Amino acid sequence: MGQREQWGTRFGFIMAAVGSAVGLGNIWRFPYMAADNGGGIFFLCYLFALLTAGIPIMILEFGIGHKFRGGAPLTFARMNRNWEWLGWWQVLVCFFIAVYYVVVIAWAISYVGFSITQAWGDAPKDFFFGKFLKLTGGPFELGGINTQILLPLILAWAVTFISIYTGVKAGIERVAKVLIPVLFFMVVFIAIRGVTLPGAAAGLNFLFEPDFSRLLDYKVWTAAYGQIFFDLSICFAIMITYASYLPKKSDIVNNAFTTCLTNCSFSLLAGMAVFSILGHMAFTQGVAVKEVASAGVGLAFITFPAAISTLGSAAPLFGVLFFLALTFAGITSLISINEAAIAAFMDKFNMERKKATVIYTGTAAACSLLFATGAGLYILDIVDHFTNNFGIVFGGLLEVLLIGWLFNLKSIKDHVNPISDFKVGNWWLFSIKVVTPLVAGYTGIMTLISDLKKPYEGYPPDALFWMGWFVLIVIMVGGILMASVKWKDEQSLVKGGVT
Ligand code: PHE
Ligand code: NA
Repeated sequence: MGQREQWGTRFGFIMAAVGSAVGLGNIWRFPYMAADNGGGIFFLCYLFALLTAGIPIMILEFGIGHKFRGGAPLTFARMNRNWEWLGWWQVLVCFFIAVYYVVVIAWAISYVGFSITQAWGDAPKDFFFGKFLKLTGGPFELGGINTQILLPLILAWAVTFISIYTGVKAGIERVAKVLIPVLFFMVVFIAIRGVTLPGAAAGLNFLFEPDFSRLLDYKVWTAAYGQIFFDLSICFAIMITYASYLPKKSDIVNNAFTTCLTNCSFSLLAGMAVFSILGHMAFTQGVAVKEVASAGVGLAFITFPAAISTLGSAAPLFGVLFFLALTFAGITSLISINEAAIAAFMDKFNMERKKATVIYTGTAAACSLLFATGAGLYILDIVDHFTNNFGIVFGGLLEVLLIGWLFNLKSIKDHVNPISDFKVGNWWLFSIKVVTPLVAGYTGIMTLISDLKKPYEGYPPDALFWMGWFVLIVIMVGGILMASVKWKDEQSLVKGGVT
């Protein structure tokens, strides 16, 4: 095997890492979570979660990826020959997320077009569920592949394929270096226009006003900590993989802080952009902001379209900007999540990048068709819930427990500190060993109990079994099976790249 690929510049690496972190989650999930969990108080809890879990794990993953120079399975196998399965667990999580995440990007691409004609008219909700998604009556009623989604879906896969196929520096890095700055300017533009609209203040108040009574509410804290892993792309193989392409002399701690804080600022900016315009809509309709805010996909594909319709002749422009922003944010995350899996196969089977990319994206693209059916939204909702709340959270819990308690964590600190300007100390060790396991364990178990008591969103039990629990079984058993397959080059586990 030749030399491992490397990023061209530090800026390029940061753009790629930020590109992964900044995703659909920042634009549709974060603002709503904040508004729903005590506004300003949520930001406080989130900041706390960032300092005690997000940034420490980012440093950890940048550190081990850089030190052991592998995708997740290779990195874990090099740390301990018996831990490879955890790497595959995380890679399988990547697979199950990628196949639905891409479909949401396809919706966003469609909505770029719809924005021009304001295709949703004055009924964005019926348009979204009916005319566009052709949503069926339940998760097992597939109702055929939606041809409207097919074309943008192919487009999203094509961009991802080309970026990964052409390699870390020529593909992934170059795409991120263009898309992320453009994305940033688009959202700044929307935010500036947004906050100068009449009624914007009410929207921003709704988002930021701290509800101090909720400071001790455990739900707010679990929401803040639960958001952190998916939000920063940590604990599911991605950041380990991206760090494995860093040159030897790279400031790990500084890069980790930069990535986390940029992601967080972007969320705030996106929140301002979205909620100022929602505030304006509430103002024109003479209702409270609360009446118009909605959660999840509804926020981006129903509420926001309705809101921009109140902007008159500027509506198409803002629609196009918003949905292009969603698309760019999504694509760079999609690239990262596929690269994490493809790198794992390249490591294990000594496979050429080009060949691995063709096989893997081909398979994933075929599987993603399931989510482009009339039942897509239901299946997506279930798979999303289970992969995020259990696949990522328990995969992360195992990661910090193994590395924190059964590995010499200080050796990672000693690897990271000499090459970093800021040094990590006891707060870092304590966060990895104690804080993160406790909060990840607690949030994971609480969700598990609630899911066992009451079926998630009232879906039929067999749907939850096949699209939820079974997916988790595949992740766990598949991880162990993959780890039992022989390495093409057994030697790569002991030597090669370890610095
Ligand atoms: N960090 C991304 C977000 O906030 C999550 C993600 C990363 C999803 C990579 C898919 C792939 O949306
Ligand atoms: Na994010």
